[in-house]
Amino acid sequence: MENSIKVDASRSLDEIDPRIYGHFIENMARCIYGGLLRNERPGHASGPWSLREGLIEAVRKSKPPVIRWPGGLYADGYYWREGIGPVQDRPLRRNRYWSRCGPITRVLDPNSFGSDEYMALVEALGSEPYVNVNLGTGSAMEAARWVEYMNGTQDTVEGRRRAENGREKPWGVRTWGIGNEMYGLWALGHSRPDEYGQRFLEFRGAMEEVDGELDFVAVGADRYLSRGWNREVLSVAGEKIDLLSVHIYLPGLERMAGVCYSRVRRGSSGVYRAIVASPLEFERRLLETEEDINAVMGPDSGIGVALDEWNLWWSPTQLLVPRWTLRDALFVCGVFHAMHRMSRFVKMGNIAQLVNVLGVLSASGDRFYRSAIYYPFLMYCRLAGPERVAATCRCPDFSAPRLGGIPPIEDVPVLDCSATLASDGKVLTLFVINRHMTDDIETGLSIKGFGAGSGVEVHCLNGPGPGAFNWYGKDEEVSITSSMPDTGDVLPKYTFPAHSVTALVLKV
Ligand code: AHR
Repeated sequence: MENSIKVDASRSLDEIDPRIYGHFIENMARCIYGGLLRNERPGHASGPWSLREGLIEAVRKSKPPVIRWPGGLYADGYYWREGIGPVQDRPLRRNRYWSRCGPITRVLDPNSFGSDEYMALVEALGSEPYVNVNLGTGSAMEAARWVEYMNGTQDTVEGRRRAENGREKPWGVRTWGIGNEMYGLWALGHSRPDEYGQRFLEFRGAMEEVDGELDFVAVGADRYLSRGWNREVLSVAGEKIDLLSVHIYLPGLERMAGVCYSRVRRGSSGVYRAIVASPLEFERRLLETEEDINAVMGPDSGIGVALDEWNLWWSPTQLLVPRWTLRDALFVCGVFHAMHRMSRFVKMGNIAQLVNVLGVLSASGDRFYRSAIYYPFLMYCRLAGPERVAATCRCPDFSAPRLGGIPPIEDVPVLDCSATLASDGKVLTLFVINRHMTDDIETGLSIKGFGAGSGVEVHCLNGPGPGAFNWYGKDEEVSITSSMPDTGDVLPKYTFPAHSVTALVLKV
C-alpha cells in the first residue's frame, strides 16, 4: 500500500477551541504546595510558600490557554473565604478531601494559595481562569459571594474586600464549574442525577444574580462511570448548562488487576499499542456524551463538552511520582487529535494535573523537570491554528489488546493526522503522529488550496525509543527538534520517524 496524506486547506471543517489544551491544578499531594510552590522552610506546613519561578516560566512558554482550580474532589470541601486576606491570618487546616486518603495526598492545607494568588498566576501566564465552586459541602450563597469577590466592582461588599486585599480591578472570571464528580460515592456531596440537576439550577441562579455574563459547567459522566447520569441531569437542568464535564482516566484504577499494572511497568509492545491507541477510546466515550446531549436537548442545543480531567492513570505510585515516556507523549497528541475531530462540541480539555500529581511537570526540593508529556503542549499550543481543515490519511493499521479500562481496539491507523490554519489563513500546520513502535513511514503528501513559500518548518517530538523518559537533570531526552528544509525536501514525500509526532508548518 502507498501511504498518503491529503490536505485540502480550502475545506474548512470546524473552529478548534484553544481551551482544549488546558490544565488543571488542585490541592492534592504535591501539585500546589511542594509543586507549583516551594516551601522556603521545608518541614513547616504553614510555609512560607513561594512560586517556583523556573517552573512557571516553563509553563508560560507552553502558552497554557486555561487553568482549572481548585479541584477536583478538593473543590467540594473548599471554603474560598479561608484563602483570602493576609496570608499569615489564613487558617492551617486539614485537607478536607484528600486527608481522608492518607498522609501522602497531604493532610494539611495552609490556604496560602487562594483566589488572588490563583488569579495572579493565571494572569501572569496569559491563561483564562476556570473556577470550580463547592457544591458538596458549600451553599449557593457562598458560591454567589465568591463570584462577587472575583467579579464585583468596588461598590459591592466582596468587591471592596478584594480591593482591600490588593486588587482593585475585578478579576473577571467567566467560566464556573458547579461541583465535581457528584455521581461518585467517593465525592463529598454525592447525589442522584436529578438532585444534582436541581442543585445546579439553585447554584447557577444565585451566581447569575451577581453576574449575568457567566458560563457554567455541569457535572457529566461517561457511561463507563455512570450510565444514565447525563440524560437525567440534562432533562432537569439542560436549558441552563453551557458545558457538560467529562473525566476520563485510562487504563483506570477501577480495573486495577495486578497483572495489568505490572504489564504497564514492563512496557511490552502490547501495552505500547494499547496506550497509543487509547485516544480512540476517548473518542468513543465523548461521542456517546454528544449522543446524550442530542437525545435530550436536540442537535442544536449548543451545549459543549469540557473534558476537564483526563490522563493516563494506572496506580497510586504513578499518580504521585509519574515517569512519563515518549509513548505517553504520543498518547497526549492522540487525545489532541481526537479533540480536533470533535471540535464541533468539545470546547475544553484540562489534563490532570499540571505539577507532580500525574504531572506534566515534576518538582521536588529546589528542582523541577519538564516531562515527556510537557512537549505536546509546547508543540500544539504554539503551532496549531484555530481552524481545522480537511486532512485524510491512507496507511496500514494495527490492533491493540485490552489494557484495564482500554478495550481491545481493531483497525488503529498507524498514522494519525490533523491539519489546522492560522486565523489569517497564512500558516498551515500538518500534525502527524507515527504510532509505529519501530518503523519510519514514508508517506506521499499532497497539499491543496494553500500557496506555500519555499521553506517548511519541521518540528519533531521524539526520543531515543518509545520508553524514553525525562527526569531531573535530563529533561530533553524526549523533546522537540526543529529544522527548516526546502519545501522540495518535504513535498511530495516525507518520512515520518518511528514513535514520533511531526508538525510541518507551511507559510504563505
Ligand atoms: O485528578 C485527581 C482526582 O481525580 C480529582 O480530584 C478527581 O476529580 C478525579 O477523580
